[in-house]
Amino acid sequence: MTSVLPSESSLDGRFDRLIQPDKVHGTLYTDPSIFAEELRRIWFRTWVFVGHESEVPQPNDYVRKKLATQDVIMTRAADGQVHLLINRCAHRGLQVCDDAQGNSSSFRCPYHGWTYRNTGELLGYPYNKGYGGKNQLAGLGMGRVPRVASYQGFVFGSMAEDGPSLIEHLGAAAGEIDRLVGLSPEGTVSLDVGWLAHRTRSNWKFLAENETDGYHPQFVHGSIFGVTGSPIGALYSDASTAVTRALGGGHSENDLRPEFRSFAEPMRWFGTTPDRVPKYVAAMEQAYGEDASRRMIEGAPHVMIFPNLFIAEIQVFNIQPVAVGECTQYATAVQLGGGEELNRRMISQSIGSVGPAGMLLADDTEMYERNQRGVEMLDPEWLDVRRGLGRERTDDAGFTIGAATDETGMRGFWKHYKSLMEA
Ligand code: FES
Ligand SMILES: [Fe+2]
Repeated sequence: MTSVLPSESSLDGRFDRLIQPDKVHGTLYTDPSIFAEELRRIWFRTWVFVGHESEVPQPNDYVRKKLATQDVIMTRAADGQVHLLINRCAHRGLQVCDDAQGNSSSFRCPYHGWTYRNTGELLGYPYNKGYGGKNQLAGLGMGRVPRVASYQGFVFGSMAEDGPSLIEHLGAAAGEIDRLVGLSPEGTVSLDVGWLAHRTRSNWKFLAENETDGYHPQFVHGSIFGVTGSPIGALYSDASTAVTRALGGGHSENDLRPEFRSFAEPMRWFGTTPDRVPKYVAAMEQAYGEDASRRMIEGAPHVMIFPNLFIAEIQVFNIQPVAVGECTQYATAVQLGGGEELNRRMISQSIGSVGPAGMLLADDTEMYERNQRGVEMLDPEWLDVRRGLGRERTDDAGFTIGAATDETGMRGFWKHYKSLMEA
């Protein structure tokens, strides 16, 4: 048996050894020092999905969120600007805000009464003579996520003062968000019906890798596909014409459009027919003319945006790490502006598939947790990611693509992960 743990003396080039083209090392999921390094080099540096502007629609609205291990408050200031405040008092470090959401122009720390504007500035402190009077504590305030940007209302934060812009980070994945928004006759999506939170005893990367793993659905979800007569399984079969695409930047997708194009039936992607959602179809035709039919045939994207935003057609997931062996998966239903006939069903389907008794996510989560328990065993040391390596090709846009069941997305994830961890 070869050595199980990397030796302390060889930290240089560590990730080059742990991440190889066809295999990745088990310690990537279990070593607390690697997790600490991921926080520094990925979660507190790159752009991380935090929430959606529709969660704070009115001035002074706020909602509590997570950015990795950090408790943040997403606020909308009076001027409409969205901010991400770090939920910690500048006096003695108390968690300032305890409510999940609300509307307020300021936050008051319950310990000694220091008050902050919803942009983070310190407004005042009681018994100010002890500090030599008012306005004596210049520079103190709540922490702020230094860079906040949104794309189609999806709000991202970066803990790094500078670096690539959000648009540069999203790269080709931005077009997948556009595809989703392009299914709204009004060109808008909202994520405002509330998030389910699933605490999961698994390293976050098992989730990120699985989101575009087209190899597992027929097995993990075979029972529910069988009971419901779902056509989803066929999309991920060996005979499927769908492709797995590495979009660069660690992003990946299962592109199901080749399958839906071959049927050329509008709304098949949603499991319905145009006559059952006539107002939506009319609104799409009104908004997009001849292009409406293509949009309604091709449907919504299935894309994993590095490191933590997963758009699964009608659901959005926000994955946040808690510790090396634990993360939280937040899930919500997409709501399309002008798509009322679809929106209610998106909520009920989301409850049925990814809710507390949901039939898809519970099965996936069982795999994540069993995967974590498995990799804590020391032999064999590696996880194999070679599936489809010999049949990958390059598409017209220059992206690497594989078959529907290939591990092309995972390899793209690891390539980008390695570049960040070694930067
Ligand atoms: S810890 Fe917040 S006011 Fe003292
Ligand atoms: Fe799954």
